[in-house]
Amino acid sequence: MSETFLEDNFGRRIDYLRLSVTDRCDLRCSYCLPKGFRDFGEPDHWLNFEEMTRVVQAFTELGVQRVRLTGGEPLVRRDLPLLAGQLAQLPGLTDLSLSSNCTRMDKLAGPLYEAGVRRLNVSLDSLREEVFARVTGGGKLHKVLRGIEAAQQAGFAPIRINTVAMRGVNDQEIETLLDFCAARGFTLRLIETMPVGSTGRDALEDFVDLQTVKRRLEQRFTLTPDVQPGGGPARYYRVAGSDTRIGLITPLSQHFCDTCNRVRLNAEGTLHLCLGQEHNYPLRDVLRRGAGVEDLKDHLRTAITLKPQRHEFREKPSQVVRFMAMTGG
Ligand code: GTP
Ligand code: 5AD
Ligand code: SF4
Repeated sequence: MSETFLEDNFGRRIDYLRLSVTDRCDLRCSYCLPKGFRDFGEPDHWLNFEEMTRVVQAFTELGVQRVRLTGGEPLVRRDLPLLAGQLAQLPGLTDLSLSSNCTRMDKLAGPLYEAGVRRLNVSLDSLREEVFARVTGGGKLHKVLRGIEAAQQAGFAPIRINTVAMRGVNDQEIETLLDFCAARGFTLRLIETMPVGSTGRDALEDFVDLQTVKRRLEQRFTLTPDVQPGGGPARYYRVAGSDTRIGLITPLSQHFCDTCNRVRLNAEGTLHLCLGQEHNYPLRDVLRRGAGVEDLKDHLRTAITLKPQRHEFREKPSQVVRFMAMTGG
């Protein structure tokens, strides 16, 4: 008998799909892509919206309720609101979210919200124009801030700010970022650098252990554990006596693989079973051959058995050769 839900060999229920709609990005964050990188995948290889919707339907019929649109930078993919609208209509999908750098959000916030995207996570590592430009390889902070404002006005909620903590770059800016978020009702989420791709590995030089940041913040504030909507790996805290919330994403200092609930489909239709491993299952040819939803469900059940137990970022930091932009974080 075929199962109704996706469960891996370690008893983990998979209910969250991260769907990368392009590997392209208009920024070059130092820990993600090399300076001047242009060697992106071929547009011919990208799944089209019909193929994506078909495979997401198969996922939803296997109990996946959450889909997060990622990139590269997802807003670089033309007509993204069209895809979002198709996905939002799938019965069973209850949480359609987006991870974006917000450089193009100004114009797209309204159409994306209308299409049914509700939750937004924004990559933002600094509120200082020159530091932002340095980290992102020339990004314009004011464009991002305008994009974030447009998203808030369009109705996106919750909005979370993702900040990769970097020693000597932004680790002293955390309190300022926290104030920025608190003033707007956003949640600040700090992320530990992961050795994904050569860029991620090089960035470990500035690695910040978030347990130390937590101890630093606890000297000023009382942090109480908090629960937030969403299905990701962040651990949340509330600053006692206020509405300020902070989330910590700690793949290195405190890994969370035991409760992993997700897989990643990249723009070329390869299903990656773990961010920190190379295990994958190609679906593009299956989709291009016209596989129906039932057939796809069989492929997904097989693919899920390949999901490894955990990452090995500490034991084998050179293992993941692809850049983070290829799977969208
Ligand atoms: P929600 O909790 O649903 O809001 O989303 P999320 O935190 O899972 O998504 P987001 O795209 O904002 O991811 C934030 C950071 O967490 C990125 O740097 C991701 O690479 C990292 N991350 C997300 N999922 C995983 C995971 O399964 N394993 C690891 N190691 N890191 C992850
Ligand atoms: N380590 C940790 N986080 C990373 N991201 C990209 N590359 C890395 C890395 N090497 C983050 C981005 C974004 C999210 C989707 O992935 O900052 O917030
Ligand atoms: Fe899941 Fe792999 Fe991330 Fe661990 S590293 S939480 S197993 S995707």
